[in-house]
Order: sequence, then C-alpha cells, then structure tokens
Amino acid sequence: MLNKGYHMKTNLQKIGVLTSGGDSPGMNAAIRAVVRTALVNKLKVTGIRRGYEGMMDGDFIPLRSSDVSGIIHQGGTFLKTSRSAAFYTPEGREKAYHQLKNADIDAVVVIGGEGSFKGALAFSQEWDIPVVGIPGTIDNDINGTDYTIGYDTALNTVVEAIDKLKDTARSHGRIFFVEVMGRKAGLLAINSGIACGAEAILIPESDDDLKQLDDFLRKEYKKKETSGIVVVAEGDEAGGAMKIAEISRTKHPEIDFRVSILGHIQRGGSPTAIDRVNATKMGVASVKALLNNLHGIMIGLINGNVVEVPFAQAVKLSSPVPPDLLEIQQLLNI
Ligand code: F6P
Repeated sequence: MLNKGYHMKTNLQKIGVLTSGGDSPGMNAAIRAVVRTALVNKLKVTGIRRGYEGMMDGDFIPLRSSDVSGIIHQGGTFLKTSRSAAFYTPEGREKAYHQLKNADIDAVVVIGGEGSFKGALAFSQEWDIPVVGIPGTIDNDINGTDYTIGYDTALNTVVEAIDKLKDTARSHGRIFFVEVMGRKAGLLAINSGIACGAEAILIPESDDDLKQLDDFLRKEYKKKETSGIVVVAEGDEAGGAMKIAEISRTKHPEIDFRVSILGHIQRGGSPTAIDRVNATKMGVASVKALLNNLHGIMIGLINGNVVEVPFAQAVKLSSPVPPDLLEIQQLLNI
C-alpha cells in the first residue's frame, strides 16, 4: 500500500525536484505527486527553482505537503523554469553538483523535455547524484513514451482556437494558415488538423505537403469557392505560416489568405484531466524508481502503463507522427 511507503532499497533522505525547458500544463500536478509521494515515504523534499539555473545558483526551497496544495489545476510551473545554456557546460554541472551536496540533496527529479534530459544524461554520467526524469513538453516528441505532460491540454487549446477561426474563415470565404507549435515535431499539428477537419496540414515529418497544399488550392478551392484551414507546424521545412502564405499569395493572387500564429497561448491554461492524471502517475513512479535505486532514466507511459526509459534512449528524438494519421488526413480531404 502506498501510504505505508514503498520498499526502500536506498538510503535516500532528501530529494530535489525541478522543472526545466518550456513549461507545460500539468507540470504542477507532477510536482505535487513527487512531493507527496516522497513525504509519505519519509523523505524530505527540496524545490529547485528556475530549473538548472536555480540548481547552479542554489535557489532551493523546502517543500511541505501544504506547499503543493491547490496547484493541481494550474498551468505553468510554480517552481518556475528556464532554458539553461550554462548547464550544458561541464563547469555549470560541477557548480550544480556542489550546490546539491551542500544542501544534502541525495537525488533529483527533473521534469522537462529533450534538452533537459540531455543535461540530465551528462550530469548523471559525471556525478554520483541519481537523477530520474519525467517528460513534460507540449510537443510530445520524446522517444520511449506515448505521452508527455501538457500535450493533451495544448491539443485542446489549438482545437478550440481553430474552431473559432473556422467561423470567420467561412464568413469571408478565406483560407487561414494557422501556425501551431512543435519545433521539430508535427504531432500537435496533425492531430489538431484532423480534429478540426483542416483542408491541409504541413508538418516536418512529411516532404510533399507543400505540393498537396498547392493541389488543394488549385483544384478544390476554386471548384468549391469555399473557405479553408491549413495547419502549419512551426518546424515545417517549407517555413512558418507567414512564409507559406506569402508563397501561396504569389501563386494564387485571387484567393484571400490570412495568417494566425497561435504562439504561447498553446503553452498555458488549466491542464486537462488526462494531463493531470498522467502527470500524477509519472510523479509517483519517479519517486518509486528512486526508492528502488533506479536512476539515469525517464519515466514514460506506453499504452497507459509506466515504463522506465534510459536517458540515452529518451534524448533520441522520435519521429512521432504515425503514418496512418497522414493517410487519414488525405483520405478524408475529398
Ligand atoms: O518545446 C516546447 C515549445 O513550446 C516548442 O513547441 C516551441 O518551439 C518552443 O518551446 C518555444 O520555446 P520558448 O518560447 O520557450 O523559447
């Protein structure tokens, strides 16, 4: 039973927890789960503020159960986050190690994305403080897990925004290019496009999507004299939505185009129930892993089950757009 504590195979006494990289809705739920699981198991918990930057500066706060009360429904991360260039250097990691040692922190849980895990991997290889990761990014582009914290909320945010754009697009008979986040990954774009019935979807994982867009603009749009939504992943090789709209305007001056870049709105908001539950599952599992002497790993979810993935595997960016999604989108676009 959880409330009796896991069987402890280490002599851990105090763990640290931090959030790193781009924030994502559900990170607070994960922190809460880490803190409370640790406390139930008689561990002390330290919050490391501002990600690796705070780890190098010793920006630490003790966390009690009441400190994580009332945060499960809040977006962002109450510990704050950063993208740290200094932690990518051996000197930065050495500084961080000494800060952890001085504060008697025996192990660390890192909640973040691919960049954060690259840092965690390097740190784990150099120093003897165990690290366990939890995937948190709206991009859902981490290898070895079906799911990353924040993706579900971001997907719903995008769908809501596109539904609104469809109303105005239809009223004016315009084509909207909607740019969604996903630096190297098109999962948010393809799934939001399918959910909204987009006329075309441009993602980094597919190279002939610009041609498909052109076909749609030439044949379908002129034939039906209708409106349309084109979802563009920010990382698409043809450029962002602005660039693609410019190209399309030159080729089709008769069509009325507009561009909408959804931007950081996608990173905020109250997490969905799915994000809260999955973040909680992974938060609990991360502490359980440390208690079982597992480290140098990321906790992931495959088919809803907790899995442990070595950092070295997690940092290999996956190509997460399943081919059947691309096929579905083209099939229904008649
Ligand atoms: O990694 C998550 C993400 O939101 C990407 O989708 C986006 O490209 C990037 O972060 C933007 O990062 P920032 O504004 O934090 O520099």
